[in-house]
Amino acid sequence: MSRHGHEATLSMYRNAQFVEAYSQANENYPHLESRLRTFLHNLQGKFVLDLGCGHGRDTRQMSFWGCKAIGLDYSEAMLSKAQSLNTPTVHPIYIAADMRNLGEVFVPDLFQASWCIAALIHIPMEDTLTVLRGLNRASLPGSLHYLSLKEGRTETKVVTENKYGMTTEREMTFWRVADFSEVAQQAGFSVASLEQEVSGITQGAPTSWLNFTLRNERQFRQLYQSSKN
Ligand SMILES: C[S@@+](CC[C@H](N)C(=O)[O-])C[C@H]1O[C@@H](n2cnc3c(N)ncnc32)[C@H](O)[C@@H]1O
Repeated sequence: MSRHGHEATLSMYRNAQFVEAYSQANENYPHLESRLRTFLHNLQGKFVLDLGCGHGRDTRQMSFWGCKAIGLDYSEAMLSKAQSLNTPTVHPIYIAADMRNLGEVFVPDLFQASWCIAALIHIPMEDTLTVLRGLNRASLPGSLHYLSLKEGRTETKVVTENKYGMTTEREMTFWRVADFSEVAQQAGFSVASLEQEVSGITQGAPTSWLNFTLRNERQFRQLYQSSKN
């Protein structure tokens, strides 16, 4: 991880002007809402994690649809914005933590599913395995995890853009399918499905997104191994 990249990204997500502009620009995504609804099918009453939840757009939907929704983000400014948008019928739990510490923040086997939109992109390549291992430990065997990543030659770099009425500087990791699939596998997941989508702009060019659904294979693997012994 570059110290500069980490600090630049965190200070962006702590910046009040950025948080306000980001939350306004990213509140309405009907296609994402319907994808989330499909993903949450049969998860009412279950613990679901919104990883890097930002201003809580999707966390609120999870709670509205009857899940025990937990949003985690390392930016307290983003989380205060999310809290301010709670209503009496929609009240997710928000936790301020770095997703690299997932394994310590949650007890094992808590989540039935997780959802991570445009957030793992800020984790440097070398820390991604730690995040995914924490997610594997915190979620149930067989659980599904939806993660959207930016496609590109696999690398972590600081991206400077003019967005949200200001100059933004954030560290981002771009992934080739094979490289991310390998890290996911090392962390105990299989790739259940992968969709590619082009939407939004990164540094002036259309963004190609990799939308992975991973399955937690932990117990299945243990069962398989023990059945061989
Ligand atoms: C582009 S925003 C996406 C927010 C939300 N998922 C959405 O779709 O609007 C990325 C979010 O990831 C959070 N984030 C970045 N690095 C993080 C980390 N190491 N731990 C926890 N949250 C992180 C940021 O604070 C920010 O809210």
